Amino acid sequence: MDKKIQELKNKAVLEITGSFDLKSLEDLKVKYLGRKGEVTQILRSLADLSIEQKKVIGPQAQALRKELEELIDKRSAELKNKKTRSFDVTRPGKKIKTGHLHPLTLVEKEIIDIFKSMSFSVVDSGPEIETEYYNFDALNIPKNHPAREMHDTFWLEKNSAKNNKMLLRTHTSPMQIRYMEKHKPPFQIIVPGKVFRYEATDASHEINFHQVECLMVGRDISLANLKYTVEQFYSRVFMRKLNARLRPSYFPFVEPGLEIDIQCVKCGGRGCNICKESGWLEVTGAGMVHPNVFKSAGYDPKEYQGFAFGAGVERIAMLKYNIPDIRMFYNGDLRFINQF
Ligand code: PHE
Repeated sequence: MDKKIQELKNKAVLEITGSFDLKSLEDLKVKYLGRKGEVTQILRSLADLSIEQKKVIGPQAQALRKELEELIDKRSAELKNKKTRSFDVTRPGKKIKTGHLHPLTLVEKEIIDIFKSMSFSVVDSGPEIETEYYNFDALNIPKNHPAREMHDTFWLEKNSAKNNKMLLRTHTSPMQIRYMEKHKPPFQIIVPGKVFRYEATDASHEINFHQVECLMVGRDISLANLKYTVEQFYSRVFMRKLNARLRPSYFPFVEPGLEIDIQCVKCGGRGCNICKESGWLEVTGAGMVHPNVFKSAGYDPKEYQGFAFGAGVERIAMLKYNIPDIRMFYNGDLRFINQF
């Protein structure tokens, strides 16, 4: 194509497609196709050219005129439709939505940071589909033992290759066994993970929730280590000094078994609506690792002692952020989630 016509075309197309209102488009129409327009002038000048040149330039110039006419019509329609490229620079921009972490993830991260700073190792959470052996038997909860009723269990239909019955783990304690099978004391670990219970849901019960299993094993571990760790941990999570209170309880995999209360995170122990005027909040099951559990893991119970507790992550998040209903974490309501 003739170089001049090509250049003209490039320029015109650029200007026309970039025009941002009907007025400037009209001006462009005049500029290129008007009586004194640039394309019109080429067409007029054909008369002065030789026959050969006419044959070449003529059709090209005609085609260009046609093309520009069409382009102008098209752009005109676009502009009329307000599909304009112009924009109001003073208009406030659209807020770009970035993702953010779920409140339970935030709290779990915080828990992990606190334990890490106390020299605990964070252990991968292990399988959520567990065998009856790890979830119950190895933890000193024999078959037909009434303690199994504390854990309403989702049993799976398929059994493992070793014909062990499979279930959704009801607590993170099976990881005590799995970890001890592979490691030698002394150690102090936490295992954050998801657990499942076959229960009716209500404001404080969900069929799945999160625990952080804490396990310290060594030669001279005592209840004092347990109490100190629990107090340190909960004081730091709730950012105020909180004392712990140990009450006797029963879990087959610990002896003695304990229920641990901490001073109320809201009133600090004076009594309020959160602690139902008692000044204390029940926060975790705990105890000293039962000799049978050490035996299951292949340890000599005469040689080692240890403590364990299983903290509920939802419980902590609910107290920390004043969340009244555990189901809020899972129902996907953005009005809730977006507050974090
Ligand atoms: N695994 C127990 C539960 O889920 C909690 C617990 C952990 C109790 C460790 C004692 C020691 O109820």
